[in-house]
Amino acid sequence: MATTKTVAVAGKGGTGKSTLAALLIRELVGMGQAPILAVDADPNANLGELLGTRAAVTVGGLREAAFMGVREIPTGWDKQSWIEYKMHEAIEEAAGYDLLVMGRPEGPGCYCYANNLLREYIKTLASEYAWVVMDNEGGLEHLSRHTTRDVDVMFIVTDPSVRGMRTVERISELVDEMGLVVAERYVVVSRVPQGVAVDGLMEHTTVPLGGVVPQDDALFSNDLSGKDVFALPEDAISLGAVRGLIERYLEI
Ligand SMILES: Nc1ncnc2c1ncn2[C@@H]1O[C@H](COP(=O)(O)OP(=O)(O)OP(=O)(O)O)[C@@H](O)[C@H]1O
Ligand SMILES: [Mg+2]
Repeated sequence: MATTKTVAVAGKGGTGKSTLAALLIRELVGMGQAPILAVDADPNANLGELLGTRAAVTVGGLREAAFMGVREIPTGWDKQSWIEYKMHEAIEEAAGYDLLVMGRPEGPGCYCYANNLLREYIKTLASEYAWVVMDNEGGLEHLSRHTTRDVDVMFIVTDPSVRGMRTVERISELVDEMGLVVAERYVVVSRVPQGVAVDGLMEHTTVPLGGVVPQDDALFSNDLSGKDVFALPEDAISLGAVRGLIERYLEI
């Protein structure tokens, strides 16, 4: 079986995680890399919007329906086959990539059985792709419970600030506490104004600097008019920076 490269984007809230994940996917698609699975593991999902694809259903929604008796499991189906069958509905096929939206975390019920099945399912699903690019929220909830614990490269995104660097450090500690297997992790300092150096900030974290994504007005205009990242001009500075990250860390 072909090997899967899993890239996870994590980091401080509102600093550009989803944007980085979307830009990575745009570049990988542009480079002809395939197949790619985009995973939106933020309960407040918006990776699809950035990519220009809407997922009709989420894994979380399907889990509720399949396990909590909202939908009956038809006779002749065992639970595992049924969940696999239902989960396929959550894969949204787009041009150059597929999108899987995890959705909200579980409610108060006990979902251990469901989560174990889900993790197995997602592990098998992911292994069918050459690339898995995940957008995570700060607590890394889905990474720890529902998806793979093995990540090849994690980009921890922050704004250029000392507080941001401390958040990077905490997230990096969380990764270890949760027992995630992350082969390489790097800080990506996002929204860096022109002429601002970030080297001095690096003393506040033990995670090495992977790169900088400059403040890019093209992203702002894109957002303003509700366009997806595929509408960005080829020469957008943020895209150039993301190309650099791919060249340095994703070994294509
Ligand atoms: N390099 C950049 N230049 C300019 N604007 C940017 C850049 N990166 C992100 N932004 C803008 O910053 C805002 C937040 O970005 P984004 O949604 O990617 O952050 P996030 O970390 O995923 O946020 P959340 O924690 O809410 O999920 C968006 O309006 C986005 O367009
Ligand atoms: Mg986000």
